[in-house]
Amino acid sequence: MGLSPPVKWGLTPPMLNLPGTRSPMLMPRESQVTIKTTEEQALMRRSGRLTADVLDLIAPHVQAGVTTGELDKICHDHIVGRQDAIPAPLDYKGFPKSICTSINHVVCHGIPGEKRLKSGDIVNVDVTVIKDGFHGDSSRMFPVGKVSVQAERLCRIAHESMWEGIRVVRPGARLGDIGHAIQRFVEAQGYSVVREFCGHGIGRGFHEDPQVLHYGEPGTGLVLEPGMTFTIEPMVNAGRRNVKVLPDGWTVVTKDHSLSAQWEHTVLVTEDGVEVLTLGAVDRVSGSTP
Ligand code: MF3
Ligand code: CO
Ligand code: CO
Repeated sequence: MGLSPPVKWGLTPPMLNLPGTRSPMLMPRESQVTIKTTEEQALMRRSGRLTADVLDLIAPHVQAGVTTGELDKICHDHIVGRQDAIPAPLDYKGFPKSICTSINHVVCHGIPGEKRLKSGDIVNVDVTVIKDGFHGDSSRMFPVGKVSVQAERLCRIAHESMWEGIRVVRPGARLGDIGHAIQRFVEAQGYSVVREFCGHGIGRGFHEDPQVLHYGEPGTGLVLEPGMTFTIEPMVNAGRRNVKVLPDGWTVVTKDHSLSAQWEHTVLVTEDGVEVLTLGAVDRVSGSTP
């Protein structure tokens, strides 16, 4: 997600990017939104599939007793050795590992290491693969062993909120419609949406314009067009929405230490709706996406 606030990706304060604002300052940013050609869409489709393949591969390894560093190595070796691709996070602005692993109250950008997963944890694994110059970016929540009813519910609501946003995507819809759908759904469940990080355009760049906020007002913001590719990746907190970054400069946690959950897909705006480029094998076969 946006590295730091909707802020960090664009290095513009989020206030300047409020959906609907049509200030001259925003125009250059919107004009930087790339429309992918048919050929580029095919490459994005392939990068998206490889990304989903990594998440499918790692799923059975996310068990009590494994370290997040071990998960990182499995993903790294698969991406580099089997997919002949590049793990985008590695060395990205100094990030030291190939995936992000965010446990319990960690919101995003957790750094894999010596920490062992234990029963009851919930962990987000975020994978970004570069193949032939194009990025795919997706993350999922994994319950470790037996988790609490509350943790399970948070993961489910975060998942459904991502799909609430994806459902809105079609030509003519606006970014504010996506953010609003997510925010309305999440807050109706008594949870909160993180504001400082956002979804993002994606393609040759890891984090391209536009910024895709997970809150907002309907009928505002950039109008979606066929050929746009971006991520939707809401971070949902069980408690208050506020977050802070740990001294390692990466790990984002909830200020109140409440649990946080996130799911992410890369999507393509098509002529008549949306194509999700990072569906897992199960979704691809059954077509049973929410
Ligand atoms: N994959 C994250 C996203 O969804 C970004 C991680 S950047 C890293 O945008 F440097 F922390 F890896
Ligand atoms: Co992302
Ligand atoms: Co990601």
